Amino acid sequence: MNNIWRNFIRPIFRGLYRNTQGLLGFLYDYRRFVLYSGWKENLYDSQIRNYNLAMAYHGLEKSLSYKKRNKKSGWSNARRVYERLKKAHETGHFGYHDIASSQVLSKFLTLPENIENKQSKEMLDFINDLGLVSDEDHGSINLSFEEITLGKLNKPEMFFLSRYSLREYSSNGKVDLRTVERVVRMAMKTPSVCNRQEWHVYHTDDRSIMDTTLSYQNGNKPFGNKIPNLFIVSVDLKAFFSGFEHYQHWIDGGLFSMSLIYALHSLGIASCPLNWSQTPKADKAIRKAIEIQDNHTIIMMIGFGYPDGKNKVCSSTRRPLEEVLTNLQNR
Ligand SMILES: Cc1cc2nc3c(=O)[nH]c(=O)nc-3n(C[C@H](O)[C@H](O)[C@H](O)COP(=O)(O)O)c2cc1C
Repeated sequence: MNNIWRNFIRPIFRGLYRNTQGLLGFLYDYRRFVLYSGWKENLYDSQIRNYNLAMAYHGLEKSLSYKKRNKKSGWSNARRVYERLKKAHETGHFGYHDIASSQVLSKFLTLPENIENKQSKEMLDFINDLGLVSDEDHGSINLSFEEITLGKLNKPEMFFLSRYSLREYSSNGKVDLRTVERVVRMAMKTPSVCNRQEWHVYHTDDRSIMDTTLSYQNGNKPFGNKIPNLFIVSVDLKAFFSGFEHYQHWIDGGLFSMSLIYALHSLGIASCPLNWSQTPKADKAIRKAIEIQDNHTIIMMIGFGYPDGKNKVCSSTRRPLEEVLTNLQNR
């Protein structure tokens, strides 16, 4: 009887339970996508319009960046930018991507091959009337070999292989806000789909907020109550329009999280990623307990702080390279 239970009945129940959990998770994520993503493309919502504009003007940026650009390309994106800027004008509110896009569009329209086009005058007049000013150089820039390889490390292995997840930190202090901002600024150089930059990171060093937050997370015992600083990494669902993009926020959020971890590491600050592979119930509960915007999907958390003089970590050795790397050959 014991064997029948162990070998047949239990696996069936376990399989049903796990797959039901998966299905409920998918349905919850799908509901969130329907409720909060930008699929309706309501361009009067400033955030949705800005993400949507990033897609269009990034197309123009790419067109401007090719060494030998196709002189006929870019017009559909130019019109998309123009239409969206008209919406921004109607609302009277200009966000980051609105402003960047007007500069990129202007650069596109004033290319020698485009300036005489009859559409250019109408669009340029409109942009000039808007008078949006940015102190950044949007569009395309030139970089020398030296400039583009500035990040080359003398001993890259030393950087990568010295990062460990640390769970117990020095009790000497928290990471101050200026340093936290520096870390986030560095991580913001992470690539994102069409440069939408749809991440949002919540930070706290408040013990009671951390304790509340971590009470919903299942991997921080027994060290969570001593973590000095905590990031909750999230991604804004408003940035996604097509149904094909329903997984994109996990990807962009994962990349951003890794950048935060390496940015911390580059400053000698240790961290521990904390999963948010959670049930819909826990996700709803944490949103009630702390102020996370409904449209922000929590990707993961990261505990961080300064290491001690002496530390103990999991060695967490890595699999052989052959199990990870496949060199594809032409058959
Ligand atoms: C997305 C993600 C979630 C994780 N969640 C937890 C967690 O909840 N608790 C924990 O102690 N470690 C967590 N970790 C840390 C992993 O256990 C650790 O990265 C792994 O063992 C490799 O060790 P290393 O980071 O020291 O190289 C997580 C790591 C990742 C990437």
